[in-house]
Amino acid sequence: AEETWLPSLMTETPAEGFDLAVSMARKAVTTTQTDIDALHALRPNYAHDPQSLIDVSGVVADYFATVAAANDYWRE
Ligand code: HEM
Repeated sequence: AEETWLPSLMTETPAEGFDLAVSMARKAVTTTQTDIDALHALRPNYAHDPQSLIDVSGVVADYFATVAAANDYWRE
């Protein structure tokens, strides 16, 4: 259900935390633009633009910082 798409910020591993960060970044985009056709029409613009891809990386990095903090940096 929509209200449970993100039940927890906790992940077993840093790699899973990174995947979660990517999902959070993508979720922000699809929450903002709910027209799937529009998303697919605009996809090539960023997919073929290096600066856009660097921007995407930065957004994911911000989310990853939050996820990592929530997981106490996966310290043992
Ligand atoms: C696909 C990440 C922004 C539209 C993907 C994929 C990733 C990704 C990892 C590949 C998924 C896969 O092949 O399994 C992100 C992140 C974003 C972002 C982290 C922002 C920080 C956007 C924006 C748009 C968009 C702004 C459209 C305006 C799409 C679409 C696909 C896609 C339509 C599917 C392409 C296909 O399956 O052929 N995105 N994206 N994304 N993205 Fe983004």
